[in-house]
Amino acid sequence: MSRVSYQAQWYPLEPEESVLDGLLRQGIPVPHACKAGVCQSCLMRAARGAVPEKAQAGLKETLKARNYFLACSCRPEPGAELELAGDADELRVPARLESLERLSQDVLRVRLRPEMPFEYRTGQYLTLLRADGLARSYSVASLPREGVLELHVRLLPGGAMSGWLHAEARPGDAVRVQGPAGECFYVPGRPEQPLLLAGTGTGLAPLYGIVRDALEAGHTGPLWLFHGARDPRGLYLVEELRELAARHSNLHYRPSVLEGRLGEGIHVGALDALIREVCPKPVGWRAFLCGNPDLVLSLRKKLFLAGLSLKDIHADAFLPSASRPEGAGATTRASDASR
Ligand SMILES: Cc1cc2nc3c(=O)[nH]c(=O)nc-3n(C[C@H](O)[C@H](O)[C@H](O)COP(=O)(O)OP(=O)(O)OC[C@H]3O[C@@H](n4cnc5c(N)ncnc54)[C@H](O)[C@@H]3O)c2cc1C
Ligand code: FES
Repeated sequence: MSRVSYQAQWYPLEPEESVLDGLLRQGIPVPHACKAGVCQSCLMRAARGAVPEKAQAGLKETLKARNYFLACSCRPEPGAELELAGDADELRVPARLESLERLSQDVLRVRLRPEMPFEYRTGQYLTLLRADGLARSYSVASLPREGVLELHVRLLPGGAMSGWLHAEARPGDAVRVQGPAGECFYVPGRPEQPLLLAGTGTGLAPLYGIVRDALEAGHTGPLWLFHGARDPRGLYLVEELRELAARHSNLHYRPSVLEGRLGEGIHVGALDALIREVCPKPVGWRAFLCGNPDLVLSLRKKLFLAGLSLKDIHADAFLPSASRPEGAGATTRASDASR
């Protein structure tokens, strides 16, 4: 049996149990969301003992060197002892909600003002922490020069964080942000290279940021932006993006829905079929894919098979949280189609 010590007390772990599950089972609250090694909200630091390599996958070298690890992917060897120095509190930046604005029936534009410097690249994701430790990941739609962090949050029925943001949160409320993480951002260079950006639901958030970032950096190659939703109510920022495209002849914006009436400049049909039709040979292109995990995975494969190099495909799948704290609301499963 392995064990971990946290705040001067030892906790046994069951065989194959992760540090996160072991601590939660024994009543220790640790911020977490995906439980899949992606969101980084369960970051902890070891003061003593060997951290398995897998528990540091995807972390920045600076964090690895300081013995940070992801508690959800940390399964110590049988008999091993790990002494925890604590969670990632020292990495969390206090911030205040600046504004909450509805972009559509179920998408909220959340603006936050960090109270300390928070460095990020537009399109990366951060962990948003509520005062009680509830943690969820959101992609950043703003540009660093804008001063505020902009997130697009989709309301999920019974969603702990999204429900709170939609119904209870007010400008001025204190939160914290951690991160950023992820490789979905624009890197200047090769300004003539065609870019393909595709996302569903709030997968638009990072793409909206990346498009503006690339245009501001002087990107001259074509930018194809595909935004998919189940029906027209799932689309948002349509007019703003049309206006942006009208000002930049190299930006091609293609909103698309699965169910809806033809016309009004909105494609009706599957997003992947539209992409294949408009961009049949994306060899040498760069792609950014965000949103529904199934769609992100399948588009990634299709673009690779169509000739796009894997190193040129940047993808962030919006994995749902795996569990939630007691009493945080109902657990109705929302439809996946417009995630
Ligand atoms: C890298 C990354 C980036 C993300 N970026 C964004 C973003 O920019 N905007 C955004 O709105 N979300 C984003 N998410 C998802 C986000 O982190 C939360 O999972 C989401 O807001 C739901 O949290 P909640 O607390 O409201 O719902 P929860 O209380 O966690 O869940 C409520 C119910 O909805 C189900 N559920 C949870 N998530 C989803 C989902 N995505 N689709 C369908 N059902 C779900 C749960 O199983 C549960 O039954 C991202 C996730 C990851 C991993
Ligand atoms: S990375 Fe551990 S909970 Fe998401």
